[in-house]
Amino acid sequence: MDEARLQDAIANPQNLGEMADADAVGTVGSPDCGDMVRMWIKYREQDGRKVIDKASFQSFGCQTAIAVASMATELIRGKTREEAMQMSGEDLSKPLGPLPPMKIHCGQMVEGALKAALEAEGRELRPASKEPEVGDSEPRRSQAGTLADALGAAGKQAGKIRIVLQPAPASNG
Ligand code: FES
Repeated sequence: MDEARLQDAIANPQNLGEMADADAVGTVGSPDCGDMVRMWIKYREQDGRKVIDKASFQSFGCQTAIAVASMATELIRGKTREEAMQMSGEDLSKPLGPLPPMKIHCGQMVEGALKAALEAEGRELRPASKEPEVGDSEPRRSQAGTLADALGAAGKQAGKIRIVLQPAPASNG
């Protein structure tokens, strides 16, 4: 594992924070270590294809998970849903070099959050400002919540979840 890149990604994670206008969100947790990652995705049209415009994440996880999630949100930009779906935890962590055996699940957790968000595409989130339509049993936006909401109970159970929440960085274009 490239320790310098890991430290750099941890010190300066990209795309950290909730995305208010996301099209989809996915969350996974590792029952082994109690860590969790949530990922948001926003799509755009490009040359008649729907591609990932941007992604962001929140992590209640170890530093490796934060670093891989940061890499992942950069690596999937411009990819179609199908292309991103093909990416394994190994692919997503490639810029860091091979993960040590005990850290492989950290990359897999990021892969899981990404796939959960990609699979959520069919249940795209409605902007928070839009009222529910007749026939909806509940506003879909409520699925997003915050990671803190979702993990409040989990944190009490696991007792070792570390909360890593920072405001989303200013848009860099
Ligand atoms: Fe569990 Fe890294 S995600 S130790």
